[in-house]
Amino acid sequence: MTERSEYSATAMASPNIAFIKYWGNINEELRLPVNGSLSMNLDGLATTTRIKFSPVFTEDSLEINGNPIQGVGLGRVKTVLNAIRADAGKPLFAMVSSENNFPSGAGIASSASAFAALAFAAVNALGMRVSTERISRFARLGSGSASRSVPDGFVEWFAGDSDESSFASSIAGADHWNLADCVLVVSDGHKKTGSTEGHKLAASSPLQTARVADAPRRIEICRRAILERDFGQLTAIIQLDSDLMHAVMMTSQPALFYWTPETLRIIESVRNLQMGGLPVAYTIDAGPNVHLITELKNVEQVIKAVKNLDGIIQILRTRAGKGARLV
Ligand code: DP6
Repeated sequence: MTERSEYSATAMASPNIAFIKYWGNINEELRLPVNGSLSMNLDGLATTTRIKFSPVFTEDSLEINGNPIQGVGLGRVKTVLNAIRADAGKPLFAMVSSENNFPSGAGIASSASAFAALAFAAVNALGMRVSTERISRFARLGSGSASRSVPDGFVEWFAGDSDESSFASSIAGADHWNLADCVLVVSDGHKKTGSTEGHKLAASSPLQTARVADAPRRIEICRRAILERDFGQLTAIIQLDSDLMHAVMMTSQPALFYWTPETLRIIESVRNLQMGGLPVAYTIDAGPNVHLITELKNVEQVIKAVKNLDGIIQILRTRAGKGARLV
């Protein structure tokens, strides 16, 4: 019997919203974060990636939504593939084609779902029998937050201090809690400073040391709030964590201001809604768009309360979702 020479697989993964944020690395190359983080995968939004390894290929190639990609994007894909090929002992080049079912201007970063789907597809194509944690480590090499899109539902990324010890795993499945994320899109333009550059500036803020030192406490509170489905605790801790990250961003050198007047208007409105007794929380990543977290039963009420605010271009509705999987 001759050995197989071509290997292919197709996988999909969703983006995630961080409840406790990753901001800053101790090792940029390995994407070892300065603090652990916690997130929820977003159902219905997905990157689907097909990979084929073949001895016929003379280089790696990448296509996203039908467009050939070179440069930095291809470089990050190669980093992940090199680690997987080395582990599998199969030195074959690959053809990768990837599609997002959400528009690139929707204010949701596609790097988390993209690198989670890539790592999952590649490992399965090469027939490797490895754990979810191992796959999340491969995904991390392409984008830190991608490590959290590999496991199911509510996910914790343990910061660790080496490639081996920095991985994500599920703390509860997607069905554990009916949480929804309504993404209020106020800008569909590309952000001025991407996360990879932003992480490098984090240490220049005098506030980063305090943010990082307090992270284990926030993770503990957030983990417990999720496990006990305590929305009040969840609200307090995720808003604090998001505000702390943005305080670091705003006080970095050079400063990163991701908020716009629309962002601030939404924050103010959410705080007013909370005072009126509506259980809704805000959290904001490296951009101006605001994620409103609420329980599924309150989604209509939340949307009704905010949809007429000035400057909202689009509202995306998602809920807790699964991890990376084969299609
Ligand atoms: C603000 O994972 O996008 O969304 O590792 O350079 O790809 P790279 O950065 P990325 O950073 C995410 C930053 C964040 C917070 C978070 O998702 O934890």
